[in-house]
Amino acid sequence: MMQPKNHKVQPMDTFCFMNIVAYALLISGFKASMAVSSIGQSQILSDASRTTLTSKGGNFDLGFFTPGNSDKRYLGIWYKKIPERVVWVANSVNPTNDSSGVLTVNAAGNLVLTQNNTVVWHTNLTRQAQNPVAELLDSGNFVVRDVNEANPEAYLWQSFDFPSDTSLPGMKLGWDLKTRLNRKITAWNSPDDPTPSGFSWELLLHNYPEFFLMKGSKKFMRIGPWNGLYFSGIPDLKPNPIYNFNFISTSDEVYFTFSLNNTSVISILAVNQTTSQANRYVWVEADQNWLIYQTLPKDYCDNYNLCGPNGNCIISDSPVCQCLKGFKPKIPQAWNTMDWSGGCVRNEALNCNNGSKDGFIGLTGLKVPETEHTWIDQSMSLERCRDKCLSNCSCMAYTSSNIAGAELGCVMWFGDLIDIRHFPYDGQELYIRMAASELGKERQSKKKLTITIVSTLGAISVVLLLGFCYYIYQDQRKRKMTDNPNDNEGDQNRGESVDDLDLPLLDFSTIVVATDNFSLENKIGEGGFGPVYWGKLAHGQEIAVKRLSGSSRQGMTEFKNEVKLIAKLQHRNLVKLLSCCIQGDNKMLVYEYMPNSSLDCFIFDDTKSKYLDWPKRFHIICGIARGLVYLHQDSRLRIIHRDLKPSNVLLDDKLNPKISDFGIARIFGGDQVEGNTKRVVGTYGYMAPEYAADGLFSVKSDVFSFGILLLEIISGKKSRGFYHKDRSNNLIGHAWNLWKEGSATEIIDTNLVESCNLSKVLRCIHVGLLCVQQYPEDRPTMPSVVLMLGSETELAQPKVPGFYAEKDFIETNSHTSQMEVSSNSELTITLLEAR
Ligand SMILES: *[C@@H]1O[C@H](CO)[C@@H](O)[C@H](O)[C@H]1NC(C)=O
Ligand SMILES: *[C@@H]1O[C@H](CO)[C@@H](O)[C@H](O)[C@H]1NC(C)=O
Ligand SMILES: *[C@@H]1O[C@H](CO)[C@@H](O)[C@H](O)[C@H]1NC(C)=O
Ligand SMILES: *[C@@H]1O[C@H](CO)[C@@H](O)[C@H](O)[C@H]1NC(C)=O
Repeated sequence: MMQPKNHKVQPMDTFCFMNIVAYALLISGFKASMAVSSIGQSQILSDASRTTLTSKGGNFDLGFFTPGNSDKRYLGIWYKKIPERVVWVANSVNPTNDSSGVLTVNAAGNLVLTQNNTVVWHTNLTRQAQNPVAELLDSGNFVVRDVNEANPEAYLWQSFDFPSDTSLPGMKLGWDLKTRLNRKITAWNSPDDPTPSGFSWELLLHNYPEFFLMKGSKKFMRIGPWNGLYFSGIPDLKPNPIYNFNFISTSDEVYFTFSLNNTSVISILAVNQTTSQANRYVWVEADQNWLIYQTLPKDYCDNYNLCGPNGNCIISDSPVCQCLKGFKPKIPQAWNTMDWSGGCVRNEALNCNNGSKDGFIGLTGLKVPETEHTWIDQSMSLERCRDKCLSNCSCMAYTSSNIAGAELGCVMWFGDLIDIRHFPYDGQELYIRMAASELGKERQSKKKLTITIVSTLGAISVVLLLGFCYYIYQDQRKRKMTDNPNDNEGDQNRGESVDDLDLPLLDFSTIVVATDNFSLENKIGEGGFGPVYWGKLAHGQEIAVKRLSGSSRQGMTEFKNEVKLIAKLQHRNLVKLLSCCIQGDNKMLVYEYMPNSSLDCFIFDDTKSKYLDWPKRFHIICGIARGLVYLHQDSRLRIIHRDLKPSNVLLDDKLNPKISDFGIARIFGGDQVEGNTKRVVGTYGYMAPEYAADGLFSVKSDVFSFGILLLEIISGKKSRGFYHKDRSNNLIGHAWNLWKEGSATEIIDTNLVESCNLSKVLRCIHVGLLCVQQYPEDRPTMPSVVLMLGSETELAQPKVPGFYAEKDFIETNSHTSQMEVSSNSELTITLLEAR
């Protein structure tokens, strides 16, 4: 990335006289060997001397560096122990082209960077200094102050006021309204060039101020206004174990800032032009690497104004853009071809001035509209806000401007409502003005909605009941594993062609030969999406071929494109998709073959589970977590797995876990919303309650499944079909009860007891219980799970898990439902549910 290279030492004769003098001054002034954190008026910091300033506590260095493949020199700041990541650059637009750069503090208190006596960068103080000194503080802030002045308010200059691409703890992002100083972070042009690009994170001073990611003067993503708890566009900005954050708004300043809970943890916020992302990173000491903890934009719906005026972006719907209730597409032809820029208009005109009264409908779970045309009163009650909005014909919507504690504060919107989106959990309420006639319809459709929900629950109950019965039936029969290929057959030749980025299509005939015409002996499994066969290509490579069954509604071109995208997802904890094959209506996916089969064959098998001691299981748990972080955050596709379970975790010859079947839901046509049906894919026992019941999926439903998986790995017990002689609970309920009684160790697989580190296992159980909490907003994200597993930081107390209280399902009806049963008697539910 940005590697500061030590410059080559120059022969003495190339030093100019001035540099030699300066060098001497530097040495004497700095009292030789001590690390130095500041320079005064008679001192310099020169590139040629290869010295750096080091902050007093040893956190940060300031010195000269060369980024990436550049040959230029810059003055910058970096964490002492992470020199590859420069967090601040002084002369980003005006580098020196050799190592003759020299930094001084002049009598007026200005920092001056010169090259051969030519000034390349300097500060502009507005106040005169008495006896200035420049000091690198342990916060990473480089400040100029009077030598006897330690009060931060009295600094003459500070680098925190002129951020580069990185926000450090304690830095303010936003405006000083008195000096009109706008502090924003701006991405580098490239890893080789710290020149500010157009991509930035900045605060626009609307009446109700809000942050944006900008590309030049174009809005790229609206982070939204602060609502007392979080920015409206990032509800998952939550109190967390890593950092605290705050938004301050006074008549003098408006800014966002964060601080670290535990200063031994390093976390930064940075923008990147190449990826068009703003990321929060956390340094993971054990890996010597940055973990991406949060990313913006999160998904397609974060694109600014994607759905046009009065549109609403719903990420789990297809297409994602919908008109707000009471609105219809302005240009239906364009709208139907997914050109949403025209947005939506009202079904019924407002009656404001015609005596007949308007009213409001309340929508929930939203990011509030853009606040450019708003009016705000931070102390008005919500009722008065409503009346005030109703009495002004141009007020289109209102809501509470502060949702922390007692809802106080009123914000009103004028004109079109721009850039609204819906969140699968969390989100805010918004009251939208409607004509009286539209409100009547609203009441009716609410009734309809209730009926739908009741009948949906009914449909689910049928499936669950059937599933349960089937499970018992299967359990009574002796379970029989279809396959278990030789464990010692580990060598794999990888064909060259498959390493190309462009996915090769395999001939159907090749696959027929490789799998011996899909012979029964070569069948190694049967998942929810169809049977899987082992095969061997002519050059010796072993493959696993998945024949997709069922009705994928995708066309062939779409299928190929989707497979190509998914094949680009590569991570050491994901099974590699090598190729695909299409023959008539048959679609097949070709994967690398995993000789050790899947995790369920180990953890649920009394003999084989002895192979998996605690270190191996912990390695597997962490690997699965990393694979999920990659799917959720790092990959451009933001894949939600939706069917995570032990049989979808394969093990390679070294027992490294590899997640399989990711992206299949996408191949099957994303969210499968067509007309009025919606397909829920998943496996009961692993599905989060909000997904099983309402089809609401999000990264947090994967987190839930991960939690179950984790508890299964530790207990060696299946989530479903778990019985304890004294209790009628499932695995989660059992784990939860033991946890509450302080006897969580009872759940540990007896095969683990010898090899395990008790405090580590308990920590894992704790993390597992955090993952399976009932409400998605309470569950941690996967990056945070990875951090929790790998550190000693304090963990929150888990709340009641989902599906803990087993529900009584009574109603039945005739909704279409369909079950697919995999070879190892797990249920994969495919539910066609009425909307
Ligand atoms: C700076 O001075 C050195 C030595 O006098 C010389 O070699 C170098 O070319 C000069 N650099 C510039 C940019 O003028
Ligand atoms: C931006 O992200 C890309 C991809 O992760 C990375 O290679 C690059 O170094 C980053 N750029 C900067 C300036 O950090
Ligand atoms: C409605 O509110 C807008 C914005 O505050 C204001 O300009 C306008 O005068 C108000 N209209 C009435 C009739 O109060
Ligand atoms: C901070 O983190 C370190 C390392 O993870 C840990 O040893 C220490 O106890 C933590 N301190 C607090 C106050 O949580």
